[in-house]
Amino acid sequence: MLVKSLELAVVIPTFNEAGNVAELVRRLDVALAGRAWEAVFVDDASPDGTARILRDLARQDRRIRVIERIGRRGLSSACIEGMLATGAPLIAVMDADLQHDPAVLIRLEAALAADPDLDLAIASRFAEGGGTGDWERERLAKSETANRIAQLVLKAELSDPLSGFFMIRAGRFRELAPRLSGIGFKILLDLLTAARRPLVFAEVPLQFHRREVGESKLDHVVALEFLLALYDRVFGRYVPTRFAMFAVIGAIGVVVHMALLGLTYGLAGFGFLPAQATATLGAMTFNFFLNNALTYRDRRLHGTRALLRGWLSFCAVCSVGALANVGVAAFLFEERYAYATVSALAGIMVAAVWNYALSSRFTWGR
Ligand code: GDD
Ligand code: MN
Repeated sequence: MLVKSLELAVVIPTFNEAGNVAELVRRLDVALAGRAWEAVFVDDASPDGTARILRDLARQDRRIRVIERIGRRGLSSACIEGMLATGAPLIAVMDADLQHDPAVLIRLEAALAADPDLDLAIASRFAEGGGTGDWERERLAKSETANRIAQLVLKAELSDPLSGFFMIRAGRFRELAPRLSGIGFKILLDLLTAARRPLVFAEVPLQFHRREVGESKLDHVVALEFLLALYDRVFGRYVPTRFAMFAVIGAIGVVVHMALLGLTYGLAGFGFLPAQATATLGAMTFNFFLNNALTYRDRRLHGTRALLRGWLSFCAVCSVGALANVGVAAFLFEERYAYATVSALAGIMVAAVWNYALSSRFTWGR
């Protein structure tokens, strides 16, 4: 029997899309009639059982594949893993929530087929003939701001750099894959900025549909991740993103410390020692939770036991860090290597690197 070789893979990240995936598969089947295609779903162990539903679908239909990731979250990294898992020469990425019309896949494919120089075809909500459906003004404004920042970094003329719907030639993707950051939401932006030889792209208009079932995962943390991904691109090779994040949170921790000290020592009339101890503990706790939610979002500790263990190990690491801080600063100052402020800064730097290195190994390590 002659089997037509695989032409197209559609990579679909999912998180809590139990109500959408069966309908999406139905629509893919219609839209891609006559093509040899497969769908690679990448699910981050959705609590609503999306992966189980996908596996049921996969048993009935060999074109459906499922990658389930446990203990991990992230749209970009899910897309990358799905894209790496296929042998198809063309790879598309789209959302699972029916906001992306599968009929557009054929138009993306046609664009690539028409011009061998093209690496990438992007479904754009802001191209002539596209649209954002019934978005409220606020979402439009946010999207516009993000767009503008992205275009600044990209220095490329494209109308929708944050689109989550595109098709790329597999060879070109594999070339870029080792350089992708995998942070956050913006896989397309990641691809575009990773390319040393700029990607040649075309845009196809997309009418973005409203989400009928389930809810968007684009929250404030995701917006922050977007900024982080940009930081990573521009400065990441000088100061690693995670460390920068850790350091900024540490600096906010100093503010928290001072505020607590003011409250306990200044207002409540604690002695200096208990006040300082309270402030230190408070600041460490604040830093622990913020780092857990942001810096280590992808390996976040959940549940009382894990949080308690993490908090204890974080406090232990930071206590040693504080000793190192004082030790280094005192040494530099007393041996007259540096002025007081410079000595203090050096102590802080040493402690920051120490805290970062050890907490990433022991508190959030695997
Ligand atoms: N595996 C995995 N892990 N999938 C995820 C995760 C995650 O952490 N977060 C979201 N997804 C999946 C969703 O299930 C959905 O299929 C798709 O990624 C898009 O997520 P939504 O939460 O529906 O995003 P949106 O509709 O608000 O955002 C869309 O528009 C943005 C631009 O405004 C997406 O197309 C984005 O990619 C796009 O940048
Ligand atoms: Mn959506």
